[in-house]
Amino acid sequence: MAMKAGFSTLLLLIFISFSFSSKASQIIEDQQELPRVMILATGGTIAGVGASAIGADYKAGQKPIEDLLNAVPEIHDVAQVEGEQIANIGSQNMDITTWLKLSKRINEIFENDEADGVVVTHGTDTMEETAYFLSLTVQYDKPVVLVGAMRAFTAISQDGNRNLLDAVIVAASKKSEKVGTVVAMDSQIFTARDVDKTNTLRTSAFRSRNFGPIGTVFDGKVDYYYTSLRKPSHHFDVRDQVTLPEVDILYGYAGSRPDAVGFSLKFGARGIVYAGVGNGNFNDGVKEALIAAAQEGVVICRASRIGAGKVTLHNEVDDAKYKFVVSDDLSPQKARILLMLALTETDDPTAIQELIFTN
Ligand code: SIN
Repeated sequence: MAMKAGFSTLLLLIFISFSFSSKASQIIEDQQELPRVMILATGGTIAGVGASAIGADYKAGQKPIEDLLNAVPEIHDVAQVEGEQIANIGSQNMDITTWLKLSKRINEIFENDEADGVVVTHGTDTMEETAYFLSLTVQYDKPVVLVGAMRAFTAISQDGNRNLLDAVIVAASKKSEKVGTVVAMDSQIFTARDVDKTNTLRTSAFRSRNFGPIGTVFDGKVDYYYTSLRKPSHHFDVRDQVTLPEVDILYGYAGSRPDAVGFSLKFGARGIVYAGVGNGNFNDGVKEALIAAAQEGVVICRASRIGAGKVTLHNEVDDAKYKFVVSDDLSPQKARILLMLALTETDDPTAIQELIFTN
């Protein structure tokens, strides 16, 4: 009996020590396992090549993702990275087809648990638009970090390598687990909804003019200071879309001609964002043309060319009477994206206005 008790105690001790050591090695393994970050490359100045290191003359979207990754070996200390080339273009050529491809791929990556976070390298000219589109169409709140550069890959004192490393650090950080789509540029982190490129040349071009950055990435460390309460309330499912409804942006100025509205209608616009003066205003001729377009079922969104502040309902224009909607504080280019997506679901101005006020 005593021998039997001794034997079972021994077995118990072996079992405890085995399960402890396998748990301990599991914990060590988990700690050693770096987060997985997928880098989707689309081109831009970050992949740009110039004839000289100091001249302003270069061509965007030249270097493949492999070259970008090889230039920053430190990336491998913060994440297990994989790269994929989605496109290699200057972002002035970004289009709906590429947006849909990118969004579908990111949804697939998260659905199949291929990565913990995604980085999208992108030209800076339309980066804010792609970021907003992704924030509205990726069905997950995992990190999607857009990044680019203001100086070409081959330029002296180029900013791309540092920005890319920072973007991977943001995507890999535990603190970013539920951040959704952001832009990380020049050590700052911005929400997709609020960020704009605000300078044609400077490396500090990106700003959120109304609300500021939500965090920083500096010295390998991510810090968030604010969280937006205006995260997308509705995610549009574009997985089966092959294109989006046509929406034009028309720009207002002193003496702007109403004919541009007719031109948009003739070429099939289902919505028009009018980047008006001040609080989304336009002259009497343009107003008549927009009222006529709204009566034909085209959704008219009053936005502003100012770049900060918001466009308010029922100010100098009777929006309810004319069935116009307003952009709130979205830039004209972001209001266009939301309107294109909204039009895949409804053309009712009241429902569209609600989508604008909540996304
Ligand atoms: C581009 O947007 O592709 C060119 C400009 C840039 O990336 O800074």
